[in-house]
Amino acid sequence: MAHISQNMSRVEHRIEPDERHAKNGHLGGVVWLTGLSGSGKSTLAFTLKKHLFDQGYQTYVLDGDNIRHGLSGNLGFSEQDRRENIRRVSEVAGLFARCGVITIAAFISPYHEERRLAREIAGDGFIEVHLSASIEVCEARDPKGLYKKARAGQIPDFTGIDAPYEVPEHAELVLDTGSRTVEDCTQELSAIIHSRLCR
Ligand code: ADX
Repeated sequence: MAHISQNMSRVEHRIEPDERHAKNGHLGGVVWLTGLSGSGKSTLAFTLKKHLFDQGYQTYVLDGDNIRHGLSGNLGFSEQDRRENIRRVSEVAGLFARCGVITIAAFISPYHEERRLAREIAGDGFIEVHLSASIEVCEARDPKGLYKKARAGQIPDFTGIDAPYEVPEHAELVLDTGSRTVEDCTQELSAIIHSRLCR
């Protein structure tokens, strides 16, 4: 993105990642959950957070619906706004990760390019997870009644209906949340987090 601000220089942080690692017992990182509305991102994110927290890990969830009440409160669902939403969240997730937190980001994040950007900003500890429940499953579940409204023409640009979802090609993990239980998915996520961030 173009930088408008000028006359700035970076300041050194003076705490090395190794020091945080030693203190927390794990590295910081970003677990990026992407998938359609209704694919289980929020449910899995908050279940995983509790699971990690109970094991003494530093962890936090950035969730689409919550972030859109604050940081991204001035954005809608056009392509441009979604790209800006994910850009902001990627920067925040990167900051949390550098603070040593296992950051769980739960966003539809429909575009390859912004997911690539999120990965680039986060650096080594980025784990992309595609929650692959199909549009048919998500629409049948319709936990917030949004698909029904979208089909009735009351929500324009709804992902999977009249807005695109670009299926991830480089995800570290694909979880079929259409058929697997929350517990099962949480165990698998926990295992990959252990192997990547708890070295
Ligand atoms: S993203 O595309 O920019 O990544 P984000 O994850 O923040 O989306 O927000 C998605 C949530 O916003 C959905 O879970 C749903 O509750 C709500 N929402 C409202 N309008 C739409 C829409 N047009 N398409 C998808 N989700 C929508």
